[in-house]
Amino acid sequence: MQTISEIPELRAALSEARRAGKTVGLVPTMGAFHEGHLSLMRRAKAENDLCVVTLFVNPTQFNDPTDFARYPRDHERDARMAEAAGVDFLFMPAPSAMYPHGFDTTVIVHALSDRLEGASRPGHFAGVSTVVTKLLNIAQADRAYFGAKDWQQLQIVRALARDLDIPTDIIGLPIVREPDGLALSSRNVRLSPEQRSAALVLAAALDGAEAQAKAGVQDAALIEAGMRRAIEAQPLAELDYAAVVDPDTLQGVEEIGEGAVALVAATFGRVRLIDNRVLGT
Ligand code: PAJ
Repeated sequence: MQTISEIPELRAALSEARRAGKTVGLVPTMGAFHEGHLSLMRRAKAENDLCVVTLFVNPTQFNDPTDFARYPRDHERDARMAEAAGVDFLFMPAPSAMYPHGFDTTVIVHALSDRLEGASRPGHFAGVSTVVTKLLNIAQADRAYFGAKDWQQLQIVRALARDLDIPTDIIGLPIVREPDGLALSSRNVRLSPEQRSAALVLAAALDGAEAQAKAGVQDAALIEAGMRRAIEAQPLAELDYAAVVDPDTLQGVEEIGEGAVALVAATFGRVRLIDNRVLGT
């Protein structure tokens, strides 16, 4: 595995590989790797000749400066894990390489970014959309891999690639969970043992929503109310939202119909967690 920190160096290495007919799979990350990240890397390596992982804790997508300061960072461990997953290039740029003096452009995917995570974290998705656009342009990969854990982010990335004619295929992969159901997140390490068990309420609320949908409940408001009740019953959880929406547009739906996605967000102490589940067929 080769570790690269300069944009021109990564571009040169990848254009040489492309000239040699090799396909490239890109996995954008902020590090603090867990099985969720590794599942993306392994798939990228399986489906392409080369796997490029970017590790950049992107300052512009943190609306809360303490969340940015506390975001877990362990680059040596990350490098070891990436290498073991078969990654060929680990790109770790400095903030000044990504945002040099005079940087003046923002990519905004409008309607998809306003709601849910976007409503709770103003500016977050503008930061995500801008950095992902840059990473897609830098790598010019054949495929780029994102987790369904960040459902809204995945839809936003699909939209920007489509709207800006970025020729990389955007591939979404399933959520990786702990054996007890907690969705893996780099932020989980910041939970106390009590908060860690309380956080299971998110997956439990989604289990409830899925069970209702499977039992034939169509009414989205009813399913939302059930999830809200479940999360509000957990004293260590502060509910942010529990929503049942269209899986592509993220607009509210009245009935599950052909399919919907249930999304939840709650804060445990100072740690904000999200989770989701696709409902219906
Ligand atoms: P990060 O939170 O590091 O996540 C990197 C990728 O891993 C994302 O596509 C995310 O959806 C995926 N991922 C995280 N937890 C997962 C899980 N439990 N199962 C499956 N996939 C999971 O998302 C970001 O970084 C940033 O916003 C980024 C896209 C890199 C832009 O800065």
